[in-house]
Amino acid sequence: MTFKKISFLLSACLWCGAALAQNITISTPKTSMVLSAPIGGNLNYVYYGSKLSPTDLENIETTHPSLYSAYPVYGMNCPTEAALAVKHADGNMSLEMEVVNVTTRIEKDGELTVVELKDKIYPFFVNVYYKTFNGTDVIETWTEIKHQEKKPVSLNRFHSAYLPIRRGNVWLTHLYGSWANEGKVIQEPLQPGVKMIKNKDGLRNSHTAHPEVLFSLDGRPQENSGAVIGAALCYSGNYKLMVDTHDDEYHHFFAGINEENSAYTLPKEEVFTTPALALTYTNEGLSGSSRNFHGWARQYKLANGNQPRKILLNSWEGVYFDINQEGMDQMMNDIASMGGELFVMDDGWFGDKYQRNTDNSSLGDWVVDTRKLPDGIEGLLRDAKKNGVKFGIWLEPEMANTTSELYEKHPEWIIQAPQRDPVLGRGGTQVVLDLTNPQVQDFIYQLVDNLMTNYPEIDYIKWDANMAIMNHGSTYLANDKQSHLYIDYHRGLEKVCQRIRAKYPDLTIQACASGGGRVNYGLLPYFDEFWVSDNTDALQRIYMQWGTSYFFPAIAMGSHISACPNHQTFRTIPLKYRIDVAMSGRLGMEIQPKNMSEEEKALCKNAIAAYKEIRPIVQFGDLYRLQSPYDNLGVASLLYATPEKDKAVFYWWKTEQFANQHLPRVKMAGLDPDQVYTIKELNRVDNEPLSFEGKRFTGAYLMANGLDIPYSHKLDYHKLNDYASRVLYLEAAQ
Ligand code: GLA
Repeated sequence: MTFKKISFLLSACLWCGAALAQNITISTPKTSMVLSAPIGGNLNYVYYGSKLSPTDLENIETTHPSLYSAYPVYGMNCPTEAALAVKHADGNMSLEMEVVNVTTRIEKDGELTVVELKDKIYPFFVNVYYKTFNGTDVIETWTEIKHQEKKPVSLNRFHSAYLPIRRGNVWLTHLYGSWANEGKVIQEPLQPGVKMIKNKDGLRNSHTAHPEVLFSLDGRPQENSGAVIGAALCYSGNYKLMVDTHDDEYHHFFAGINEENSAYTLPKEEVFTTPALALTYTNEGLSGSSRNFHGWARQYKLANGNQPRKILLNSWEGVYFDINQEGMDQMMNDIASMGGELFVMDDGWFGDKYQRNTDNSSLGDWVVDTRKLPDGIEGLLRDAKKNGVKFGIWLEPEMANTTSELYEKHPEWIIQAPQRDPVLGRGGTQVVLDLTNPQVQDFIYQLVDNLMTNYPEIDYIKWDANMAIMNHGSTYLANDKQSHLYIDYHRGLEKVCQRIRAKYPDLTIQACASGGGRVNYGLLPYFDEFWVSDNTDALQRIYMQWGTSYFFPAIAMGSHISACPNHQTFRTIPLKYRIDVAMSGRLGMEIQPKNMSEEEKALCKNAIAAYKEIRPIVQFGDLYRLQSPYDNLGVASLLYATPEKDKAVFYWWKTEQFANQHLPRVKMAGLDPDQVYTIKELNRVDNEPLSFEGKRFTGAYLMANGLDIPYSHKLDYHKLNDYASRVLYLEAAQ
């Protein structure tokens, strides 16, 4: 790689009197970030927003003064929160950093700018990184921290990044929820005080809060208009995002690893790398920000983001732990006959000394239970081949049960507070393996490596993680490094993932963690997709998938047709509606097909065939959210369009049913105003077609008016129900 000195733009610095500022501009196709970085001076933030012209750049500091450090450190006149706070070897608690060098480097996928900072007195160094990605409006920023002090330095806070956001009428959009209710959208105006979003589960980090946020800069958030800054912390462990608003003109936004109970003792020369914060700016509203994240994710941040995902049947809700050879064969046959492409055998297939018949044993004993599967994995692969589908398998590699051969052999491998009995998780016996320990890392890597070496036909792994870190302690970490547990756990996990991906880049791996506990950009580079939630209720999924779509693309969102009454909410929803919701993500099924009627199977077969047609639009298209379910107007709607805008899929789901209700007519977005689109309904169940079936409309008309969707379906009397949904396929005339 060739390093070249950054070409500095010189501009008069009104704020520091005599000196000239040396500005760095980080550019993406539609955005600019400007920093002031004079050698020997401070690294200060100047501007982040829409792309600046050379004229605007020249004068930017006259109206965007560089008031704030781009990476505020604690100890010397730091009025707001700090991104970095340390205790030096001699006990000094302060830092004062100055710029010593700035370089940029062209990389194969973008450009990397490094600002090197050094403390004015101590041999303490911080490199601040800014990375762009070709063809996207995302900038990642992170830091590397190191020192050459004689003794270790204690890092007491070590955020990845800081961004000042001009006050006005700024609204924050973020996610909050719980198990089986992930991805709920919260929108609130930023007020004085500290808004904190954090996680301390230790292992999973997206059931409740999420480390991604959106700032709508022009008042109440709009989907398809308005300036928005999006931020996603690319980390799988404990995080802390803070917005500090006090007595000045800015909201002060910080994001990074949660330092609570995680003080890090940094020896001389060791480099502490903080996870990247991915930033994006758009003036196309929340949906624009999502499109930026989705495009960046598919190209750079999601394993195999350019490969279409297979339509699968997962065994979990169909048979739970009741795994056996005939049952698996039957399910493979059923999904194949409906046009599916992959069968995934979930929990319950393993254990020798201890059988896994429920959730209280055998994790760690990854050998086939030959009482259930006499022909082993060979037999399953044989049946998959016979049925013409691929085969996938469930693992929970980071875990053990105290009732397992693994625990009997290696009781020291589990996370446990020194001198105390471990707190036990799921099933009253689950424990977490200590991934700070390289032996444990090897064990997990070998589990996957052996499986894939012995059975290279395995196409898919569902990688589950169903427990928090409930005890603080590691028998591997030294006594004075116990506070490294949360951080080193995720370093260990990432190392394992890197090894697996180096050898098995094409294997599809799903990140599941009691549902949506691992939906984050720290892990997605190693995973093809995630399980949105253990809740498969179609109505609740509309809300959860809506929230999740703010940051994560449909190609990664496992979305399955399941049985009714639903196993989590006990709600009875007609199959048509369940299909129409599942088809807005990565379509799959999670049901016992044996219990479905021929008519239901035919409906699914038809939907799977239709999904194959629209798969490229859903999985690679641009998302336009149209009508939020959170507005409580009785309907939710969104649309995916190809980048060329020649094809689109429009989803419309009624979210409640009242007699004589009045729903809004949903206007479309993201179409080409000048193109003429033909409308075709998918998954039709009505006795007669929609009035506009096969009719043609311009994109301009559809975006100004939308189509008037009937509030109910025209069905025979005994089939009428309280749900209505439509999926429309739009194709532009050639
Ligand atoms: C977790 C997952 C489920 C299923 C079970 C199996 O709860 O989220 O999808 O795999 O484990 O025990």
